[in-house]
Amino acid sequence: MGLFMTERLFSEAILTRRATPSFDGSPLPDEVLSKILQAGMQAPSGYNIQPWRFVVVRDKEQKHRLREAAMGQPKVEEASAVIVCCGDLNAPRGDSLDIVLAESEKHGFSKEQNQKMKEMLNKTFSSPPGNMMGLTPDYAVWINRHVMIAFTTMMWMAEILGYDTAPMEGYFEDKVKSVLNIPDGIRVVALLAIGKLKGADKPYAGRRKMEEICFADTWGENLKL
Ligand SMILES: Cc1cc2nc3c(=O)[nH]c(=O)nc-3n(C[C@H](O)[C@H](O)[C@H](O)COP(=O)(O)O)c2cc1C
Repeated sequence: MGLFMTERLFSEAILTRRATPSFDGSPLPDEVLSKILQAGMQAPSGYNIQPWRFVVVRDKEQKHRLREAAMGQPKVEEASAVIVCCGDLNAPRGDSLDIVLAESEKHGFSKEQNQKMKEMLNKTFSSPPGNMMGLTPDYAVWINRHVMIAFTTMMWMAEILGYDTAPMEGYFEDKVKSVLNIPDGIRVVALLAIGKLKGADKPYAGRRKMEEICFADTWGENLKL
């Protein structure tokens, strides 16, 4: 993943990013889209399971249908691309896990190591939530935490490459799944619209103070920095 000459500083992008209210519809070059998706795919995940799946919506008619599933929000249609960020609840088992483990063997992980991991994951993810001394995850939390870290990595990569982004939760999951033909066992976690800002950006609404949000060692204890 090479460096683009125009990449912005991450710290600057953090301070200037806004949830883009409107996009101009200009096309997103394939090399930029590829770099954004590759960034998401490099995100960390528990046991490297990589349960995220991305449906990139660029087709005009498909964006129109997706907009309808997203409460009519115009930016879905205006954006150059909308990455529908999904999570595969079956990623910790079966073929999906085998693909992850086979890849890790190419990187020097042993078959024995992987066999142990497989047995452990089979136990953890085959029990219903609440069993296994609380080790089995709450699947909704589990999938959300993984997909959102990949989502966020892609959002920052897009911003650093000079594009504008809009994170979106305003959609009906069943409608999005129907429009994109997404099978059972896959959750739609969030939509990431990417493009170039049209018109004025959304004003900055500020953030809460550090002392209200960050604690020292124990919940509620003042963190002095
Ligand atoms: C997960 C997530 C979902 C969001 N969903 C929507 C949405 O559906 N529609 C929308 O207009 N803005 C949406 N937003 C944008 C927020 O309103 C925005 O991030 C917030 O007001 C703070 O503004 P800023 O990001 O420009 O600082 C979403 C943001 C996040 C992080």
